[in-house]
Amino acid sequence: MQNNVLILDFGSQYTQLIARRVRELNIYCEIHPYHKVPENLDPFKAVILSGSPFSVRAEDAPHPDLSRIKGHKPLLGVCYGAQYLAHFHGGEVKPSDIREYGRANLTTILDNDGLFAGIPEDTQVWMSHSDTIAELPEGAVRLASTNDVANAAYRVEGEETYAIQFHPEVYHTTHGRQLLENFLVEIAKIEPSWTPAAFAESTVQELKDKIGDGKVVLGLSGGVDSTVAAVLLNRAIGENLYCIFVNNGLLRKNEFQSVLEQYKGMGLNVKGVDASARFLKALEGESDPEAKRKAIGRVFIEVFDDEAHLVENVDWLGQGTIYPDVIESVSVNGPSVTIKSHHNVGGLPDFMKLKVVEPLRMLFKDEVRRVGAQLGIDKELLGRHPFPGPGLAIRILGDITEEKVRILQEVDAIFIDGLKKWDLYNKVWQAGAILLPIQSVGVMGDERTYERVVALRAVESTDGMTADWVNLPYEFLQETSNHIINRVKGVNRVVYDISSKPPATIEWE
Ligand code: XMP
Repeated sequence: MQNNVLILDFGSQYTQLIARRVRELNIYCEIHPYHKVPENLDPFKAVILSGSPFSVRAEDAPHPDLSRIKGHKPLLGVCYGAQYLAHFHGGEVKPSDIREYGRANLTTILDNDGLFAGIPEDTQVWMSHSDTIAELPEGAVRLASTNDVANAAYRVEGEETYAIQFHPEVYHTTHGRQLLENFLVEIAKIEPSWTPAAFAESTVQELKDKIGDGKVVLGLSGGVDSTVAAVLLNRAIGENLYCIFVNNGLLRKNEFQSVLEQYKGMGLNVKGVDASARFLKALEGESDPEAKRKAIGRVFIEVFDDEAHLVENVDWLGQGTIYPDVIESVSVNGPSVTIKSHHNVGGLPDFMKLKVVEPLRMLFKDEVRRVGAQLGIDKELLGRHPFPGPGLAIRILGDITEEKVRILQEVDAIFIDGLKKWDLYNKVWQAGAILLPIQSVGVMGDERTYERVVALRAVESTDGMTADWVNLPYEFLQETSNHIINRVKGVNRVVYDISSKPPATIEWE
């Protein structure tokens, strides 16, 4: 990939944000952990050092060898990166006397060219550090200060090395985008040419070169990632892409048929496989959430494998893996503790012995959507809420029966259709209904009833890692609750989940 930026990750919570901001400038970038500096640095036109939870003064502080980078390529140190460039090059980093966290303003900008071109004095920046740069490294000149931080930015003379104590990637740094653009476009002279159209075009060509006359099998889920991956592969190899769309019986109401039709309409070579009965059988009597996930995963692999074997001489397995999964699995601290048994890059087991092709491996979710739009994929499909692989199985608390699936499908459909009707669907990141394993007393006519309770959940989020419940209008909740109780036999109570993540999760299991 041409015009590439290398982001060396020291473990900051903001590293992915740096990458997103760079890509918003239509410049491609890759995140690599600090202890794995790529062998070949030729493709990288500039390097950014991220922040870090470490202190440079700590014994175990990340300390990579930058001799091939510093002084050779345009380099920007951010927060820890700035302290790192000071501490290990003749400067001094000390614990700061006052807390330097949150908003601050640059009181002086000493050089209005270069890094700070077009950025006014007094601009707001975001600080988040407990150490401070007391003395600049050898050959460095100060570029900017705040009231509390004298060395808020500096430059090393005779090199294209820059350092800033604040975080340009965070929204609260008002001119963060301008600063990154100054560094990448003006100083590093990188052409901002990485657009969805350019990505689609170069990816299709790369896929053609890589796969040639080979055949690819790919599992479609109805979600955005697998769909966009399929369309790119379809553009590259046409009918040699064999898509398999499995109905596990745990999809939303009518979803299997309607999505299958949509896939066919898009010209994909797709086979729909209804394996509902096989999944339900495997789930019989199973109540433990992880056991349910494992059973579904196992049956999916069996079904997929059976289907893949029907395609003769297949060489490749296509997957819709996206960048956050890739970064997660190679991150500074290794994969984060597995909370649930998903998020496993690699997906299918080795026995399939296929080479893996992942056209979206380097894209963030919003970029996948933009590429999808560029490819002409239906807006509604691209805007669909995320839906978990095990589907309704993890929204039916306890064991699963056909009857429970049917009830939950009805409830879910009323909720989702309502969100669309009230023009709320696109304001919500993910929504769904949960069938609780309890019954509650009610009264219908003169009869007392003892029926099921459902919970509705709607959250706002950007990536599912954190989430907040959505403040849906009472009138909407009122109408939805009435519709559910009046129309879905067996349900007599509806509750709305008002928990944020953390400490709760999005799903109930
Ligand atoms: P939680 O419940 O962990 O969910 O807050 C975060 C996001 O992950 C989805 N999710 C899953 N997706 N298999 C999946 O493919 C799973 O087992 C699974 N569990 C949760 C959840 O829907 C949300 O988008």
